[in-house]
Amino acid sequence: MKNDRFHAESMVVHIGVGQDPLYGSVSTPIYQTVTYQHRGGELGRYDYSRTENPTRTGLQDGLAQLEGGAGASVFASGMAAIVALFHLLQQGDHVILTEDLYGGTYRVLVDVFQNFGLTATFVNTADATQVAEAIRPNTRLLFIETPSNPHLFITDLAKMATLAQTHHFWLAVDNTFMTPLRQRPLALGADFVVYSATKYLSGHNDVLAGALIMRDPDMAQKVAALANATGGVLAPFDTWLVMRGLKTLAVRLDRQEDNARAIAGFLQEHPAVTDVYYPGLTTHPGFETHRGQSGGPGAMVSFQLKASQRQAEFMDALHLILPAVSLGGTESLITHPYTETHRELPDHVLSHLGIGPGLLRLSVGLEYVDDLIADLDQALTRVKGL
Ligand SMILES: Cc1ncc(COP(=O)(O)O)c(C=O)c1O
Repeated sequence: MKNDRFHAESMVVHIGVGQDPLYGSVSTPIYQTVTYQHRGGELGRYDYSRTENPTRTGLQDGLAQLEGGAGASVFASGMAAIVALFHLLQQGDHVILTEDLYGGTYRVLVDVFQNFGLTATFVNTADATQVAEAIRPNTRLLFIETPSNPHLFITDLAKMATLAQTHHFWLAVDNTFMTPLRQRPLALGADFVVYSATKYLSGHNDVLAGALIMRDPDMAQKVAALANATGGVLAPFDTWLVMRGLKTLAVRLDRQEDNARAIAGFLQEHPAVTDVYYPGLTTHPGFETHRGQSGGPGAMVSFQLKASQRQAEFMDALHLILPAVSLGGTESLITHPYTETHRELPDHVLSHLGIGPGLLRLSVGLEYVDDLIADLDQALTRVKGL
């Protein structure tokens, strides 16, 4: 789409549209090809699909425009996008990260990149003092998740951008829980935005994908070259699935967020629940900061069961909400971070973060809200009172 005068809600609908000079197909053609015919000795715009593919170009250009970035690269998963970001660093560099973040990001740094000479410090980035104290002369990157995972704690992005600019390191934000329709980190001073596009962007629990969006044009070229060199790029059909999902992002998010608000209120009142973590609750730490830097609270809700050892029984009792990892799709999913998404973290880290057996993370889907609440209520009633 050429014109950026439109609202983001219109831009997502038109991502990849107008890509077909031959037939004017409205749906973006899937260029299921590895290579491209040369005319004479000249290579054309496209020569090999690891380097560039026209279907992928449509999604990349659309994402860059949505985020207000200079360029975007899309990858075979969110982890591949995060790895591409870490590949921009060098041996001896230091990274500061939100401590309460996706377990896979922790795992790749500690199990993989530490062997190549990167060091990492995980801190509570909601507290700017802790971030400032973690800065070393070799700090090159600050990596934030806000809302965090699984507690949905809030980090002040403008404060982080000031620290990054003052101390000359990059700021990257994993914006998976928010999407460009709710939070635009580049506009708040970040250098990179990273997505597991597996989640809200594609939105149907049917494709693995990742994206990295850059503020700076040189950096965008560097990442494109890195993607070509390392090869974890997104396949044409999967790219098309992400674009297809993106078209309904605005309406999905509105509905999911409405459902999540109602569910968070219901859980807060339920006697079988001791704590509810949701950035839309006025009692949530960072409520005001989140409201100031985002367009809405999102559709992730975490909560603590009173009967903290009976989470398996509770999850098995659900009829509509599916016990499964992942998030951001049409179906509501409930996850147990302690044994699933965050199981890679050592015990002392889990206990420091307050991730115990009774903590559950709900990705609220598109179902009718009364059915979701009734499902939660009957399962909670079973495990009430212990
Ligand atoms: C916040 C966040 N970032 C990154 C990832 C990794 O994405 P993927 O599973 O697409 O590799 C996940 C996966 O759950 C996630 O929740």
